[in-house]
Amino acid sequence: MTEKQYGGASSFGLKSKAKKMEAKTKDLNTSKNLEIRNSDNTSSLTNDELEKLKKAGKIAKQVVEYAKAIIKPNMPLLEIAEKIEDKIIELGAKPAFPVNLSVNEIAAHATPAFNDQELARDLLKVDIGVHIDGHIADTAITLDLSNSDVNKKLIEAAEKALSEAINIVKLGSKINEIGGTIEKVITSLGFEPIRNLSGHKIEKHNVHAGVTIPNFDNKQNKQIEEGVYAIEPFSTNGLGNVRDGKLSGIYHLENPRSVRDNFAREVLEFITEEYKTLPFCSRWIHKKFGTRGLLALRQIESAGLLHHYAQLIETGKGKVAQAEHTVILTEKEKIITTV
Ligand code: CO
Repeated sequence: MTEKQYGGASSFGLKSKAKKMEAKTKDLNTSKNLEIRNSDNTSSLTNDELEKLKKAGKIAKQVVEYAKAIIKPNMPLLEIAEKIEDKIIELGAKPAFPVNLSVNEIAAHATPAFNDQELARDLLKVDIGVHIDGHIADTAITLDLSNSDVNKKLIEAAEKALSEAINIVKLGSKINEIGGTIEKVITSLGFEPIRNLSGHKIEKHNVHAGVTIPNFDNKQNKQIEEGVYAIEPFSTNGLGNVRDGKLSGIYHLENPRSVRDNFAREVLEFITEEYKTLPFCSRWIHKKFGTRGLLALRQIESAGLLHHYAQLIETGKGKVAQAEHTVILTEKEKIITTV
């Protein structure tokens, strides 16, 4: 699941910085605990964490194969989403975010509503997140459902850019070199990378952990440190940028505090317990609580507790293809968990 850049910095990076600053100004004990937690996240992974990350990756790979096998033109997106998410659970993990099913010029952050009627067609991106106890694998494929040459070439460009980026990435790589490689591959095939969408660092229960992996040479020669990263090139025959479209029904808990209404509080407790800070969707809330749940969700949203993701639309209405894998970089090794 991608991250949109706003004026060179990611919204999530800014927010997490803001949160750290807020924590520092609070009482010393709380702030110390938060700092320790944060440094744990960036230090070496334990064996248990590595195993869970690898297992999540393996399941994500199996689910990708399953998605490729079941998705046919004109299949309802709702049916695809439910089957994929059920498969994740059947294989012993949980969705790390609602499966993103984005068609043509919608680059990302689209998932069916509980009553969605849309059918799979043309150029369909399937972005899948899997987690085991908060340890996440993030992977995406694009399917050509209309047997189109342009679709095939766009998919090839995104996949080739991903495989070259994965070949060169290592501990200490400069992020703009990764981005530059992606950009070079995609432009050499006659398309544009989407410059304001990026890959991202992943931490426990956190899909977007601040550091971004750009899809072009953004001139930032920051070195990649130990950790888990999603690399996700997007190729387009449009302008190479996205803008916010309509709201997606995908949310994450941003400001954990209480709400007044009893039922809304019950829904909020479920969200906090089940998803923590991971993205979830209105469809999941409807499944658990019915229509009342959707009303409660609206109350929680208007109380300012949630980030509501917008769909991301290619600015020139170009078609968009995406490819994504998750990579673990440690002092000792580089593991691509989702291949
Ligand atoms: Co991602």
